[in-house]
Amino acid sequence: MSMATTMLVIKPLFSPLIHHQSSRTARLHHHTIPTPLRRVPTHLPTSLASAAAAAAPPSAAESLVDDFDPELPIEEALTPPSSWYTDPSFLDLELDRIFYRGWQAVGCTDQVKSPQAFFTGRLGSVEFVVCRDDNGKIHAFHNVCRHHASLLASGSGKKSCFVCPYHGWTYALNGALLRATRIKGIRNFDVKEFGLIPLKVATWGPFVLLNFEKDVSPNQEVESDIAAKEWTGSCVDILGNSCIDPSLTYLCRREYTLECNWKVFCDNYLDGGYHVPYAHKGLASGLKLDSYSTTDDKIFVERSLQDSERVQIEDIVLCEGVQKGLESPAYCSGRYAPTVENAMYHFHGLLYRNLKG
Ligand code: FES
Ligand SMILES: [Fe+2]
Repeated sequence: MSMATTMLVIKPLFSPLIHHQSSRTARLHHHTIPTPLRRVPTHLPTSLASAAAAAAPPSAAESLVDDFDPELPIEEALTPPSSWYTDPSFLDLELDRIFYRGWQAVGCTDQVKSPQAFFTGRLGSVEFVVCRDDNGKIHAFHNVCRHHASLLASGSGKKSCFVCPYHGWTYALNGALLRATRIKGIRNFDVKEFGLIPLKVATWGPFVLLNFEKDVSPNQEVESDIAAKEWTGSCVDILGNSCIDPSLTYLCRREYTLECNWKVFCDNYLDGGYHVPYAHKGLASGLKLDSYSTTDDKIFVERSLQDSERVQIEDIVLCEGVQKGLESPAYCSGRYAPTVENAMYHFHGLLYRNLKG
């Protein structure tokens, strides 16, 4: 038995399209908010304050992290300030402290199931390509030509080698430079030193994981169990080796571009279903859980994809509306509904701790 699934990849999470607010708007946020609406700064205990004073001064973005207090219980807590969602320097800090550290799920193993299959993507400013070579070994590289930095591959599909669309330099699926065109007369050039730059890659269950940290070992593929442990910590014991229900199969991938900060979408997903009866009236009335079946029934799959599409569009409208509200000088922080928004509160606490390093 298999279940139709849709892999929903939200572009802001994987691309610099993560909403980059103009610095003008960011300045507006800091300098024109009426005083009564400003968030009262969190004060450090004296011992911590003196330790901090002895260290290097925090960047502007690092200072913003402390405008959220994760120690307050959910019943008393304020949500993170709007600057977390609008300040470009805050996004840079998130990329540095969160997305470029540790493992990130970037695709499904079914996308590189057979030899010569590949897919490309982007996280922050990192362009990457994942492929399986003729021997069945998986690889990941920066998707950047070593000649003049052209992007090498685009989209997904099958290729026996990567030929740069600019001047034709050609790379094997293991990253080696096979052919550098028209380089007659070049000196001090070793073809072995101009292969694609590797990235650490691992698979776990249906996930392809990449790690963007700089220390790439010659063998870029990391053992599943090591990557899984590093990615999920103690959760790996609960999830087990197969990670998720192995009967789930990859059906298709759809991409949506949202004009909002990536966290707005996460918050939307983590509100404990709070918004469902108000914003997804069709979904709330259409789910008949008692008769819910998971056959591969073509009609079920089609219907499921259509419903999913409608919910996505509804969420996009919500998220883009929230982003506009966050950019308004009238708003700084909100509150949590304690009985339903626990997951969102937990997410913000995790973010805080990751950003503090
Ligand atoms: S940039 Fe790739 S061959 Fe010139
Ligand atoms: Fe939703």
